[in-house]
Amino acid sequence: MPEVKTDTTPAVNHAEDGPRPNIPATGFSLAHISDLHLTTLKEARCSQLLNKRMLGYFSWWRKRRHIHRSDIVEALLVDLAGVRPDHVAVTGDLTHVGLPEEFAEARQWLKSLGGPDQVTVIPGNHEAYVGSAWIRSCAMWAPYLESDTPQDIPKTAGLFPSLRIRGQIALIGLCSARASLPFLAVGSLGRQQLESLATLLRTTREQGLLRIVLIHHPPVPGTIKWRKRLVDSKSFVDVLVRHGAELVLHGHTHYPTFSEIATPGGKIPVVGAPSASELNPRSGHCAKYNIYQTGSDGQLTMSVRGYSEALGRFVAEQETTLVLPHHESGS
Ligand SMILES: [Fe+2]
Repeated sequence: MPEVKTDTTPAVNHAEDGPRPNIPATGFSLAHISDLHLTTLKEARCSQLLNKRMLGYFSWWRKRRHIHRSDIVEALLVDLAGVRPDHVAVTGDLTHVGLPEEFAEARQWLKSLGGPDQVTVIPGNHEAYVGSAWIRSCAMWAPYLESDTPQDIPKTAGLFPSLRIRGQIALIGLCSARASLPFLAVGSLGRQQLESLATLLRTTREQGLLRIVLIHHPPVPGTIKWRKRLVDSKSFVDVLVRHGAELVLHGHTHYPTFSEIATPGGKIPVVGAPSASELNPRSGHCAKYNIYQTGSDGQLTMSVRGYSEALGRFVAEQETTLVLPHHESGS
């Protein structure tokens, strides 16, 4: 069994607060945002809600529409425009119940975030709220989901795993979204996607790329409640142990998480971003997103930016240095 460590608090090396930082021009910067739930269900019709979506609608009406705030989403766009990351990764749950109208609304928002060459998206469980029809709606986001270059591997939903290469960075997108029974929010990758993932990890390692894996569900067992888990997390971890990766990013929890997966090449950091739109005084959840900046000596700097209600904008919160594993290319 691989050694897996789970902790909700990443090691913090340096704390900083105040005005927006200038991200160094050198290296590559990646912003990771997740679980925005930015759509509205105001126009949803009763006929669209005669299934599990009715539960999601009530959740939106009672709670989510109050805690996922459009003004925070607006502040996020302003902050990202100031920070100017080289790329933005969005790890799912842009919608509430995955209605086609929500996919269309989210597509418009993605356009305001950036072009498909600057933004990579993977779906979350809320995109796949019921049935399999969501895959058709997901096509509305295709430019943001699909690989940059054709890959000769079998793909789930025709898209995943996706591969986007930016300089020395390989962004590998996975789809853990699937419909689940009421009161469950589980995800899975499936055997075919895991096999294709193994192929991509192997080829990108041979190319000497820094491999960042994007997945909506936390892949380390124990990070989240059983009813929200990644069902085939053990198989996923096994693939990472065999083929390595330098970083895994996920969402779904709505709170920050940090864990590690032990591999022969070292420990892979697994970092969960909270919702980037939520302000919930009851749970204490406050909108944040993370920025990763590549550096020398196999290190990666992670900067957390959180929303300040008092200032009405995002501010720098803390900076952490992640030590990445070293997997020999070509080995
Ligand atoms: Fe989720």
